[in-house]
Amino acid sequence: MQQNAAMAFDTTFPLSDGNAIPQLGLGVWQAESGQETSDAVRWALEAGYRHIDTAQAYGNEESVGAGIRESGVPRDEIFITTKFFPRNEDPAAELEKSLRRLGVDHVDLYIIHWPAGGPTWAWPGMERAADRGHTHSIGVSNFSVDELAAVLREGERQPVVDQVQFNPFAYRRRLLDACMENKVVLEAYSPLGTGSHLGDATVAQIAETHGKTPAQVLIRWGIQHGVPQIPKSTHKERIVENAQVFDFELSEDDMLALNGLDETGGTGEARGDKWWS
Ligand code: A2P
Repeated sequence: MQQNAAMAFDTTFPLSDGNAIPQLGLGVWQAESGQETSDAVRWALEAGYRHIDTAQAYGNEESVGAGIRESGVPRDEIFITTKFFPRNEDPAAELEKSLRRLGVDHVDLYIIHWPAGGPTWAWPGMERAADRGHTHSIGVSNFSVDELAAVLREGERQPVVDQVQFNPFAYRRRLLDACMENKVVLEAYSPLGTGSHLGDATVAQIAETHGKTPAQVLIRWGIQHGVPQIPKSTHKERIVENAQVFDFELSEDDMLALNGLDETGGTGEARGDKWWS
């Protein structure tokens, strides 16, 4: 399988509402507001990324907006995600504030950051935000199989993604299966285990056989599972490295070996630690 780099950034997974999400994006969780974030966003866009993932809770939406403007890449070429901070009350009103901070008139995806206070109360406000045209798609994050089912049952619109911590060590197979059955795209945050899985021996050995880096193997594993990836980095060379994942393919044996690293027992839960409850 050979694809050139330009094609890679165009590669998307379809969403159930008719939109599509780029398979690879830049995550900016734990990127400091200010130059650190705006540089990372600009470097990513200059390198060809067309998908940036931020959140109200990260406190760096202004810097994401600045990086986008500094890059000169047209807004309509970029898929922007932000997340509702669920300690607030009104998702639609909070999205309007996000749009002002980002300096855009809509985002592409708006998701509930975690199911604080239960899975369904915020959903009507998410639908309102979409009805107003302030977001093209709506979804959730850190929702388990049961929490996702509650939204699917009660919502008028269906969530199109569930963004969760997902990598070979957190291979939440029951959650992935439930998402697929319900046409919800499971999206991965912490695809590198916030960096902690880069030194694993199995990952390193597979990387060596492909002439790739551990980060590229971890990201590629998720893409081959049909899961969009948003690795975070604030280093230009790593941002570029993390995107070079469309010019090789992991074998079935590689995939099985990586699947076998799971430490969650194939859970349907989104988190081991529910910090919000
Ligand atoms: P930094 O931002 O200093 O480059 P995750 O995406 O799983 O949350 O992982 C992010 C962590 O992994 C950050 O600490 C980031 O550091 C680091 N990281 C991201 N890409 C790479 C890479 N290609 N090589 C080494 N470390 C990386």
